Amino acid sequence: MGEEKWKVGILTQPKAPLVYVRDILSGSIPIGESVRIRGWLSNKRSSGGIAFLIMRDGTGWLQCTAKRDLLGRDALDELTSLPIESVLELEGEVRQDKRAPGGYELAIRAYRVISVAEPDFPIAKKYHGPDFLLENRHLWIRSKKMWCVLMVRAKLLKAAREWLDGHGYVEVQAPTLTASACEGGATLFPVDYFGRRAYLTQSWQLYGEAFVASVGKCYTIAPSFRAEKSRTRRHLTEYWHLEVEIPFCGLKELLEVEEQLITHICHRLSEWASEELRALGREPDYLAKIEPPFPRLTYDEAVELLQAKGVNISWGEDLAWTHEKILSEAFEVPFFITHFPRSAKAFYHKPDPSRPEVTLSADLLAPEGYGEITGGGERIEDYEFLLARIREEGLDPEDYKWYLDLRRYGSVQHAGFGLGVERMVMWVCRLEHIRDAIAFPRLVRRRPYP
Ligand code: 4AD
Ligand code: MG
Repeated sequence: MGEEKWKVGILTQPKAPLVYVRDILSGSIPIGESVRIRGWLSNKRSSGGIAFLIMRDGTGWLQCTAKRDLLGRDALDELTSLPIESVLELEGEVRQDKRAPGGYELAIRAYRVISVAEPDFPIAKKYHGPDFLLENRHLWIRSKKMWCVLMVRAKLLKAAREWLDGHGYVEVQAPTLTASACEGGATLFPVDYFGRRAYLTQSWQLYGEAFVASVGKCYTIAPSFRAEKSRTRRHLTEYWHLEVEIPFCGLKELLEVEEQLITHICHRLSEWASEELRALGREPDYLAKIEPPFPRLTYDEAVELLQAKGVNISWGEDLAWTHEKILSEAFEVPFFITHFPRSAKAFYHKPDPSRPEVTLSADLLAPEGYGEITGGGERIEDYEFLLARIREEGLDPEDYKWYLDLRRYGSVQHAGFGLGVERMVMWVCRLEHIRDAIAFPRLVRRRPYP
């Protein structure tokens, strides 16, 4: 935007230091100090000779007061007539006021209008249905709710990286365009790759298994794609996936890594995001109290538990979302389900040597009905056996030649898991639908817009 387009008001003393709303709300600026802020006008009301402007600058919301006595009639008229979402620079005095949201306000002395918004901002202070909000997502992300979720997401990833980096894991990247399925053909997105067929990745895992022989234990945070036909409250077609792969690691050690990582994230969020969590309806203390070890339940026990509750499920079936929901309503902390049958898991899962019909696999389920947030386990190390499993699943061994090579040149016991970032955000933020755990959700029933 060109400077000449700026509508200049009466910024008389543009000398006060520029600060963020967060600095004011955190109390780090002395009361009575003159400061400048700039941001978007997110709400306003006026009564008599005073206008209350709620300003949003990305770090928080601040009530700013404009008084006719101080600014004059013209200035007050101009400020009160500005449409919401207009952009302003305000200078004034920091005040403490119990009636102000957050306990602080800015008493405006001077201002400058940077950009006047159109008067028809589509998001009003009334109930909007989910479809309307999805269609207007580019504007809805300015809402307090989405802001809180985006803050929690950022802090969740920061906490995850902090733990992983601090424990010697190396962050690596793998391609999004791939030739082979990781999690089965049913949920692959095909892409025309110059006349050849490629797919959007379902998981970094197969590359992760290659990386361990280079950099050792490692992780990635990247999008995964699933052409999921399931229209549930917890399925996206594009989601963010935090995946970890560890050499010389068995199922037992893997579960310990997962519970430590999840616990660290929960504790950090309770410290770093307490305000956002509270605003979303989650008591930070609930996350502060999460402690390892998490309960462990075998698939057999889970099936028995479900059957005892009258659920129609037979051994060998994968757990459906509805099953997980029932199980996870019985827990108040995250819990593992281990040893899934071979028939319910992807080709790479290693069978339990003492009971080959089940695999050394584990899902971590969040409580309160949220269900699966991670999936993983030990991988098959043996070349011949892996090849046989690839064939058994009707996959083309040619596509997996490089992956099979990993068993030919220095194969070791290894294990890993994938965490669905939005699934975890959903649980920690107590969201009802996964669409609200990500800024621009990709859902099966909607075209990718905005
Ligand atoms: O259980 P999944 O399919 O496991 C894998 O992809 C393994 N290759 C991961 C690994 O071992 N490195 O997916 C892992 C996690 C799930 O537990 C879930 O949290 C999330 O990814 N997830 C989804 N999240 C949102 N929408 C979807 N459609 C998802 N599918 C899986
Ligand atoms: Mg899974």
